[in-house]
Amino acid sequence: MGVVVVGSANMDVVTRVPRIPGPGETLLALSFARGGGGKGANQAVAAARAGGAQTVFVGALGRDADGDALREGLADAGVDTGVISVSDAPTGTALISVAEDGENAIVVVGGANADFTELSGEQRERVGQADVLLAQLEIAPEVVLAAAQARSEGATFVLNAAPSAPLSEQMWAEVDVLVVNEHEAADLAESLGAPDRDLDAAVDRLAERVSALVVTLGGKGCLVLQDRRRTQVPAVRVTPVDTTGAGDTFVGVLGARLALGDDLVEAARWGSVAAALAVQRPGAQDGVPHADEVRAAR
Ligand code: RIB
Ligand code: NA
Repeated sequence: MGVVVVGSANMDVVTRVPRIPGPGETLLALSFARGGGGKGANQAVAAARAGGAQTVFVGALGRDADGDALREGLADAGVDTGVISVSDAPTGTALISVAEDGENAIVVVGGANADFTELSGEQRERVGQADVLLAQLEIAPEVVLAAAQARSEGATFVLNAAPSAPLSEQMWAEVDVLVVNEHEAADLAESLGAPDRDLDAAVDRLAERVSALVVTLGGKGCLVLQDRRRTQVPAVRVTPVDTTGAGDTFVGVLGARLALGDDLVEAARWGSVAAALAVQRPGAQDGVPHADEVRAAR
């Protein structure tokens, strides 16, 4: 039944800056904003807004105003918030600088996300009902692995290996679809013994380990590898305003479209169009488009 996203939720504290500051540098911000973020919660919002696929978020929030605001934002987007853990630790925070060219730099304070070390019985049960399980690496890998193992036999586990971290053998064994950007692809390939960071070689190496692989290439679209077939999905040409959460929009929409029965290439096309809309808007969750906008842009 639909999509279950297991992952982080953060309050994004965002400064817009002329450029990303260097070491020892002090800059005056052009503007300041707060908004819903966290890779897991962003993907849940994207899956829900994609329309048609029931979406559950499994993660942890603090007992504080940020936690309340994030829960409300998820619910407003149509995400089922019924099994979110409440933590004694403060809600996660991400300190984000966005430069004028749309590039960003992010520091994440884990808080409740870091304290989320076990799935509850209820959470496990919801995971077991998923058609598609989405997870990232902004929470403890043990929790991601436990979720993957709790999914039902027919369910698809989509792992977005972000931020970069090597995967355990147990995790590799569970992944059905791996989604990475170019950097994460090179990092993972290195962790598997690749001699350099060449993208083609990295793609080949990763494709040996998973049955399906999607490599997002920013302004160049994405690459889908499945059953030895390699498909290049072109990007929609846009001028980025804020790329924060664009990858999450891609993954969330891809997950929702898989749950609705699309094949991986078609799901990646939907994800690409949604991500292109997301980068044209400020904010992570605030920038996630609705299904009708994505349909109109296709
Ligand atoms: O992927 C973007 C997200 O990374 C932001 O929303 C921020 O919270 C960090 O988790
Ligand atoms: Na955005």
